[in-house]
Amino acid sequence: MLYAAAAAILLSACGSSETPNRKPAIPSDADLEARVEKTLSSMTLDQKVGQMLELQIDGLGGWDNDGKFRLDPAKTDTLLVKYQVGSVLNCPGHALSPEDWNEVIGEVQRISMERIGIPTLYGIDQNHGASYTLGATFFPQNINVAATFDPQIAFRAGEITAYETRACGGPWTYCPTLDLARDPRWPRFWENYGEDALMNAVMGVAATRGMQGDDPNHVDCNHIAVSIKHYLGYGLPFSGKDRTPAFISPADLKEKHFAPFKAAILSGGALTVMVNSGSVNGTPVHASHEFLTEWLKEGLNWDGMIVTDWADINNLWKREKVARDKKEAICMAINAGIDMCMEPYNADFCTLLKELVLEGKVPQSRVDDAVRRILRVKYRLGLFDTPMTLAQDYPNFGSAGFAEFALRGAEESEVLLKNENSLLPLKQGTRILVTGPNANSMRTLNGGWSYTWQGDADRYAGEYNTIFEALQQKFGASNVKYEPGVTYKSGGAWWEENAPSIRQAVAAAGNVDVIVACVGENSYCETPGNLDDLNLSANQKDLVKALSTTGKPIVLILNEGRPRLVNDIEPLVRAVVDVMLPGNYGGDALANLLAGDANFSAKLPFTYPRHINSLSTYDYKASERTATMEGAYDYSADVKVQWPFGFGLSYTTFSYSDLKVDKPQFSASDSLSFSVNVTNTGDVAGKEAVMLFTSDLVASLVPDNRRLRAFRKVALAPGETKIVTLTIAASDLSFVNAKGDWTLEPGDFRAQIGTQVVNLTLQ
Ligand code: BGC
Repeated sequence: MLYAAAAAILLSACGSSETPNRKPAIPSDADLEARVEKTLSSMTLDQKVGQMLELQIDGLGGWDNDGKFRLDPAKTDTLLVKYQVGSVLNCPGHALSPEDWNEVIGEVQRISMERIGIPTLYGIDQNHGASYTLGATFFPQNINVAATFDPQIAFRAGEITAYETRACGGPWTYCPTLDLARDPRWPRFWENYGEDALMNAVMGVAATRGMQGDDPNHVDCNHIAVSIKHYLGYGLPFSGKDRTPAFISPADLKEKHFAPFKAAILSGGALTVMVNSGSVNGTPVHASHEFLTEWLKEGLNWDGMIVTDWADINNLWKREKVARDKKEAICMAINAGIDMCMEPYNADFCTLLKELVLEGKVPQSRVDDAVRRILRVKYRLGLFDTPMTLAQDYPNFGSAGFAEFALRGAEESEVLLKNENSLLPLKQGTRILVTGPNANSMRTLNGGWSYTWQGDADRYAGEYNTIFEALQQKFGASNVKYEPGVTYKSGGAWWEENAPSIRQAVAAAGNVDVIVACVGENSYCETPGNLDDLNLSANQKDLVKALSTTGKPIVLILNEGRPRLVNDIEPLVRAVVDVMLPGNYGGDALANLLAGDANFSAKLPFTYPRHINSLSTYDYKASERTATMEGAYDYSADVKVQWPFGFGLSYTTFSYSDLKVDKPQFSASDSLSFSVNVTNTGDVAGKEAVMLFTSDLVASLVPDNRRLRAFRKVALAPGETKIVTLTIAASDLSFVNAKGDWTLEPGDFRAQIGTQVVNLTLQ
């Protein structure tokens, strides 16, 4: 079966039915299965438990004086070869050229083929391109990709990422990330496609297909296997801190958090899954038979492989305290359904798992099942026949065409949030002061997972333009000056700033026409990115406040992985652009947009909060919005946000009219087509993301205020009208009820596209 990339399928990827999938999620290939069984039947228990282990590359070698990472024969003998380890991961510290990657992965592969007899499965985090490769094409991070509202961008970025990963010799990535970004305090907010389940599903399917190609049983040498992550419920830690417990209602877990994973498997053919490091409702996901085996493997009838996250079997006893020791932790995790253990520096997993099998605590059949799944991925990737791919066969690596696409993706991902009295676009000849700690940094444009784990792009991305450099090129060096006012501490923790020099910045504003203040965050990643205060830093706010006293118009550029609170400085500025983390071409994209050479078309894929005590998502429960009550009670619980989900301005305007639904009275098996006229009412061409929301007006569980059901981005010339039709299944309006079952209750629904509303009724 082929996995066609039709947008219609992408948009229906997030079906709501949770009945066990009867058809295999990924169709079985008889020849391939025969090869898997033949290999499996020849393996000893030692070989099998070895295949289930994954080691970190820097435990197998070191950096030589010539600046090259090389495997150490003693370490490879005593770890990789002795335990017949099945997988190796990651980057040895910082970015390598594709040729150096070929040497590193090639050597692991040579040893695996010659001395273990089974190819290794080398895995790398390729979050927004081949993240750890010099000269690779870096796209905007996923939060930006979501803001484009265009799944084709996720698809094509996935294709290019796969191609450039193969140039390095890598066949497997731990991407795309499909956690829902529903809490802006969480440091991994930006690695996902925003707060909405459908958006994550649609983008997740597109990215999966882009990376894996059309046929998951035969992934060719231009594609790689994905590992969708972090299954399940990772994105909503109660404390806001990474890897801390999440408490998520059973209904939300099934209805929202599971949806992107289900879609990426059923509609994208995702071959592997990585597990949430933390716990959900008290159960660490690595120990959950229900989530790993019942929901994923059995429920979806999916024959893919589940890998742990970093050291997370160890965490079952060291951090989560649900096991007494490592052996008990391994027993729990493997019996729950884990197939591969990302250890990452030690091979005693193999010894302990073997003991558990011999003691009858882990069934041999479970080990066979895990190894079958691991071998299947290796066969599906063609690794037994073609264990290595080489840079010389990938001439388009880092090509101008790829760069052009990344630039377009960045332009479509930067969100215009305010443009009072049309301050933007800026005319040629405008004299500009560029200021703020994010004005002249490649590190801040890229965020984490860029050249190094924490994102040290300033060291490696000198050939690309910072915002300041791009504005100089666009408006002329003599018109654009730079005085940062606030700077990040080089070599410090990501949040540390130097003593500010705000007075110099204010003085520099004296003879300019406009101030472009670039604020936000420095790069960070995972737990080190934890945060105690969602407010933008005091220095940065002080900078904007001081600049506002000059009376010069300010364009506020937000360059940040999560929405930092700006409610006190927003009224002081005339324009706001949230560029989030647009990647290496983000500065050029912004310059094109600020000059009006490109038009803004991005929309927020999350709710931008106004106050720390009012964190919310667009699909909050209807009962959260309580108007002032009359009588004895007089309180207000209105949801106050800075900018809502789906908000974003353009240099043109759009109007909506004539929303119709083909079946105002419908039955549960119907499909529903909504059509609306969208008109470009301004003077310039633009693109509009047309979104269909629905609300269940009365339901047996408090209904969500509204839910995104479909979206499509359309291009419109000035004055042009297009009829946009969005079709969904009536069953997409179902929800998970108090018993945990999907249900579609008779009654009234409201649908909304733009300003238009229509009611419909399920008989
Ligand atoms: C992260 C994963 C990543 C893995 C391997 C973990 O710390 O949580 O997202 O894929 O490391 O680098």
